[in-house]
Amino acid sequence: MQIAPQLRACILLGFQVLGLACPSYAEPRPVEVSYAAPLPGSPELESWAKAQAIRSADMLAAQQLDNGAVLASPSQREPNYYFHWTRDAALVMTTQLLELTKKEQSARSLQLLARIADYLRFSKSTQEVPNQSGGVEDLLNLGEPKFHVDASAYDGPWGRPQSDGPALRALFILKLAKLAMAHAWIAAELQRLDIRLTMDEVLRRDLAYTLAHWRAPSFDLWEEVRGSHFYNRLVQYRALVDGAAYLRAEGQSALGRAYGDAATAIAASLERFWSSEHGYLLATLERSGGIDDKRQNLDIAIVLAALHAADPLDPFFAPTDDRVLATAARLSESFSAAYPINRITRDPSGHAMAPGIGRYPEDRYDGVGSSVGHAWFLTTLAMAELHYRVAKQLADTGSLALTERNLPFYQRALGAPSVALSRGAVLDRRDPAFLALMTRLRETADAYLARVRYHSGRNGAMSEQFSRYDGFMRGARDLTWSYAALVSAVAARTP
Ligand code: NOJ
Ligand code: NOJ
Repeated sequence: MQIAPQLRACILLGFQVLGLACPSYAEPRPVEVSYAAPLPGSPELESWAKAQAIRSADMLAAQQLDNGAVLASPSQREPNYYFHWTRDAALVMTTQLLELTKKEQSARSLQLLARIADYLRFSKSTQEVPNQSGGVEDLLNLGEPKFHVDASAYDGPWGRPQSDGPALRALFILKLAKLAMAHAWIAAELQRLDIRLTMDEVLRRDLAYTLAHWRAPSFDLWEEVRGSHFYNRLVQYRALVDGAAYLRAEGQSALGRAYGDAATAIAASLERFWSSEHGYLLATLERSGGIDDKRQNLDIAIVLAALHAADPLDPFFAPTDDRVLATAARLSESFSAAYPINRITRDPSGHAMAPGIGRYPEDRYDGVGSSVGHAWFLTTLAMAELHYRVAKQLADTGSLALTERNLPFYQRALGAPSVALSRGAVLDRRDPAFLALMTRLRETADAYLARVRYHSGRNGAMSEQFSRYDGFMRGARDLTWSYAALVSAVAARTP
């Protein structure tokens, strides 16, 4: 076999030994129509996915410190991510709850509950001191995006406030409370850890902050743009809806009503993010500062929002929502064309690879500074998870109405059509197109996983990004959020 020069250099430099990504491809092949052919060798992808999920779960545990702080990454320079970010921590902890849903009490699940208690105590201390985002009386300090690992405030310049963090943490606590209702052993353990009161306190502040400040301008989840963001609003909506139900169950109906009313107002505001002119959901409205690169206002944040705020009983901007799917199709198309690595659509074992996905097409953050943006693991994994979830939903409901908005997404998944899809058609289980689609959606999701496998390290390491040019990993090493995104995508893969 002819070894590509990049690979030879890579082996010489010993990258493999260091566990860094070594793009093991032969010379770039001509552009192929992405993921059109049937997939060979899925069993080996499946076993990789399982092993990678176990490794990733171990990394999530390892990157939480004894005092409960969740490291964004162990990297302390270029870039320094050795901090506790409210957003990253909440998402990372939420993902770990999946372990509690599946499993009975075990040594491992008890350890996890102990770490959860540490996280909640740490969160409480960050809530109780003023910081650059504001004071404690009006709760504006809760908008602070990141903290030193001793829970003290980070005083340097930063894109603040960021209003998604408290809502994400509230969602975490509400999920934990539900698990405690469903499993007596979880309730008993939380009691034994003496954490119930702290849970309730942290939750109430997060909800109160969200209620009071959801309209205020905020920086986005990428910490770059000041304005009103779809991502923030959707997770705030879900936190208030679930929070209202929690309070009503606690007999606090007046407060519950206030949260419910705010959720209704947020829901109305979310409708404005759909642009029929663009044909996708806009990331930001009322931009009032920050980095001004995102000309198309097209951002994977929309897909992340649909995943992070999903509730199986509420179709509101769910992962199967037409407008979310229209946005996902545009993102896939756009990154597919923008990144040279995406011209390679098969890995060395012949498995189809879907495009590596970045944050937004005009992104310039290279993982350390500002030059040119790259593909990210967590965003590529979000696309995988979206496809698994849509496939599952189709299987559950057994029918699909094709609309002008969702057609491009389904057409893209189907690839070079053996069966044509047409707008206005309603498919059900008897249609060959329906069955083909269910298979193709899962294969597309697997193709995103294969993309991630290709660019990750031999030992499963995942940084924040992989280069759009050569596929090597970039940015913060061992990004905790990358591992959480993998665990979450692989969990969605399991029917
Ligand atoms: C660091 C932030 O964490 C990142 O998301 C952002 O893109 C850059 N700063 C912008 O300079
Ligand atoms: C930069 C990302 O843009 C932001 O979303 C994240 O919170 C921080 N890095 C920490 O991982």
